Amino acid sequence: MSYQVLALRYRPATFDEVVGQTTVIRTLRNAIEQDRIGHAFLLSGARGVGKTTTARLLAKALNCARGEGPTAEPCGACDSCREIAEGHSLDVQEIDGASNNSVDQVRELRESARYNPARDRFKIWIIDEVHMLSTGAFNALLKTLEEPPPRVKFIFATTEYHKIPETILSRCQQYDFRMIPTRDLQAHLRAVADREGIRVGDAALGQIARAAEGSVRDGLSLFDQVLAFTGEEVKDDEVAGLLGLVDRELLHRASGAIVAGDSLAVFDLVESLADYGADYRNFARELLLHLREILLVKLSPEDSPLQSAILPEERERLQARAAAFSEEDLLRGLDVLTRAEGELRVSPDPRVSLELALLKLVQFRKLLPFTELVAKVERLAGGAPAALPAGRPAARREAPAAPRRAAVAAPRRVAAGSAAASASPATKAPPLEASPEPGPEAAGPADPTDAAGSLVAKMLEGCVSRPSLAQPLRRAAARLDGKTLVLSVAPDFVAFANMHLGDYRDLAKKAAGRPVAVEIEAGAVAEEAPAEPSEDELRQQKLREEAEKEPAVQEALDLFDGRVVDVREAKPPREDA
Ligand SMILES: Nc1ncnc2c1ncn2[C@@H]1O[C@H](COP(=O)(O)OP(=O)(O)OP(=O)(O)O)[C@@H](O)[C@H]1O
Ligand SMILES: [Mg+2]
Ligand SMILES: [Zn+2]
Repeated sequence: MSYQVLALRYRPATFDEVVGQTTVIRTLRNAIEQDRIGHAFLLSGARGVGKTTTARLLAKALNCARGEGPTAEPCGACDSCREIAEGHSLDVQEIDGASNNSVDQVRELRESARYNPARDRFKIWIIDEVHMLSTGAFNALLKTLEEPPPRVKFIFATTEYHKIPETILSRCQQYDFRMIPTRDLQAHLRAVADREGIRVGDAALGQIARAAEGSVRDGLSLFDQVLAFTGEEVKDDEVAGLLGLVDRELLHRASGAIVAGDSLAVFDLVESLADYGADYRNFARELLLHLREILLVKLSPEDSPLQSAILPEERERLQARAAAFSEEDLLRGLDVLTRAEGELRVSPDPRVSLELALLKLVQFRKLLPFTELVAKVERLAGGAPAALPAGRPAARREAPAAPRRAAVAAPRRVAAGSAAASASPATKAPPLEASPEPGPEAAGPADPTDAAGSLVAKMLEGCVSRPSLAQPLRRAAARLDGKTLVLSVAPDFVAFANMHLGDYRDLAKKAAGRPVAVEIEAGAVAEEAPAEPSEDELRQQKLREEAEKEPAVQEALDLFDGRVVDVREAKPPREDA
């Protein structure tokens, strides 16, 4: 016997077997049981969620010969029931609206509707993809719907509800089919697997269910596809690869690295992605959805329908993450990843772009949340020492305390204030009147006239096609230590620059015309790029200057002994197609 695909083998034979359409099924049952059956039904919803299946079940319910009249429990065994299931009942016609969409065809239908059913209770037309009918055909159909012959029923199905004319809609009983929540789909796949005697774990079924995006048919087809490769036993770690999905484990590793503030883990992760041949942009998108799920778990109650896509075995891990992230962390994460997803499309070096985005996420977590910041400002403004609220992880106490509030007029130390350079314990903030602590000397911007500076300027020219490499360079201070070029990059960039040391050596070699040893160190930040600023950079520079002139910004810089890391326009630049 030839193999019958799962989607056909497991077409529900009774209303009870239909998964995830409780409202539709209950309403239909009630209508049948209370004998309030209309003459036209419209079943609408996404692909593969049970419309055609339900249309046939309804036809059986109307025509089952077992009882006196229509029944919500068609027997499945009488001639009517069997013929409908097999698709050759004389009185139940299935028409594909896509290929029978002309006026003439609908006229034929009207003609034949005038005659009584051949054998059964009703003459039933199931018109699939009814939105494909031409306007003329709809008009012809409308005439029949307005004065329906007493023993005629119409069941329409469509994936495109909005294409059905209002005049037709208003003459139908309407049923909206829903996409199937991932966990219900997973449970359905489990039932199918058990009946088929297939050994498969919940995680694998969860991956398939997720990939099916709410369609039972897609879920079953994907399962078929996996089984074609694996046979009777499916291993959890095979599924992602077979279906071209991102492995959930990698997503958990990413959110784990962010929670732990572990930049190195980011590089490891991206290395694994590269090994695995993953599409970086796809990964960014999946990670975005992963953070969104964490946010949902954080914000909504467990029984909320918003959480219907979350699988039971995922919940616990997501809850742990939800507890470790603040809402603000997650919003920032979503923001960074949304941008990254767009940038990855055009990035000449997607791997590095993804790394940078993930490193940003790791760094962001170390920043103070806004609410704490405001509390801190208020405490400082009131003259109280700036104690951090208890219970925050130590890693987050990096923002140094204010040296002096009245320092607005003093030369601003925009450049000098790396967290490491001024890590006085937050609780020991000096009183407002105290003179500022002598800050560490800021390394001056790389001077293009000296040898190291001009080397860096040339290196910058060399990385036009790799903007991510340029970023740490642009504001690095450089010096020559013997024959070694020492780059003092902003602390945030140290890990990144070290990972790409080879690239910087190549750049330096090209710039100098001979091999140059390169070392990276954590330094203070020079204010300006040594290279010829591009138009974009000039604009950015102007923005920065304007921002720094803002009294509120100045005050914040002084309060926190901070530096301006990035300035963005409030209105994002035009999204390109
Ligand atoms: N709600 C459901 N419960 C159980 N199985 C379902 C359900 N929906 C779909 N299926 C499975 O998917 C197969 C196709 O379903 P069906 O033809 O009813 O989908 P449809 O909504 O008509 O899709 P399309 O819009 O593509 O025509 C069925 O044979 C069945 O195996
Ligand atoms: Mg269908
Ligand atoms: Zn029957």
